[in-house]
Amino acid sequence: MVESQHTDQIGSRYIRFAENEARGRSPLYEELALGVAGDPSVLEFLAQLPYAKQQPNLLFAAVRHLCDTPRDWEDFRRSLASRPDEIREVMLKRRTQTNEPARCATLLPLLALLPQPLALLEVGASAGLCLIPDRYSYCYNGVDVEPSSNTDAVPPRFSCTTNLQTPIPRANVKIAWRMGLDLEPVRVENDEQVAWLDTLVWPGEENRLVLLRRALDVARCDPPIVIEGDLRTDVPRLAAQAEKGATLVIFHSAVLAYVLSEKDRAEFAQTVAHIGAIWIANESPRLIPGITEQACNQCLPGEFLITMDRKPIACSDPHGRSLRWL
Ligand SMILES: C[S@@+](CC[C@H](N)C(=O)[O-])C[C@H]1O[C@@H](n2cnc3c(N)ncnc32)[C@H](O)[C@@H]1O
Repeated sequence: MVESQHTDQIGSRYIRFAENEARGRSPLYEELALGVAGDPSVLEFLAQLPYAKQQPNLLFAAVRHLCDTPRDWEDFRRSLASRPDEIREVMLKRRTQTNEPARCATLLPLLALLPQPLALLEVGASAGLCLIPDRYSYCYNGVDVEPSSNTDAVPPRFSCTTNLQTPIPRANVKIAWRMGLDLEPVRVENDEQVAWLDTLVWPGEENRLVLLRRALDVARCDPPIVIEGDLRTDVPRLAAQAEKGATLVIFHSAVLAYVLSEKDRAEFAQTVAHIGAIWIANESPRLIPGITEQACNQCLPGEFLITMDRKPIACSDPHGRSLRWL
């Protein structure tokens, strides 16, 4: 009974992923997630893994990493049935480290409102591609914002649709200092690690892949520093290194889903408050500590909420395609 409750919960998680995350973005991932939810043997396979490793993104990326992108659900099921041990090993060894530089497009309008220059400390930075918003171009409903800092690589241009309330930046931000923190930093110079980032981009979203590769080219010109560490313990020591005189911003996007304990998330929020930095979160609303039910309800299912020092600012597309200022 307990066992079947467990597999039912995993099935519900895959249905939520299909309906709220994959639908309208990746028809293949929607099909695979619904297939998993209805397949007792795949649910049983997942039930043997720790909760953090049962995530749809991780399962699908592990299968693609070893067996290439499946054509459809039947192809996926055959691949998993033929190499379950290797697929389990990849899932246990690797993490969902999707680095989505397009999220800079939804963060830039808020960052541009702060006193410049900025000192950016990103927790859960992956390869650090969200640490270099000043090196990218943007297009907000036809209004362009160019890089404030140039490199030898051609910058990606991120298009983001916004509502009328959104303050479109007149200019890109100025960054005096930047640093990332991650349990397992991805090195932009390491081809094998970068290949895993590629695999994490969903089939059907090939334009995301093109932009990711451009962002990686930009990052390789002057790689942002990402330190190995844990946001639950290492934020004060890194924040202390920030350039004085710049506005210190501690930010994160799509990270709190991996900090499983509510207590850990609340303690992290308290730590940031003690440092006295500006705290910007771009996360699923129910994971941001101190946010009211009313604020959560302002976002549509699957949307992220952007908050500054616990105050709701905007709802954002999780992959940076749109921004709705509140
Ligand atoms: C889905 S990725 C998001 C990366 C980046 N923030 C972005 O928006 O593109 C989540 C990242 O958080 C990192 N992470 C998860 N838990 C962490 C923790 N406790 N401390 C530091 N990093 C963590 C993971 O290793 C992973 O690289």
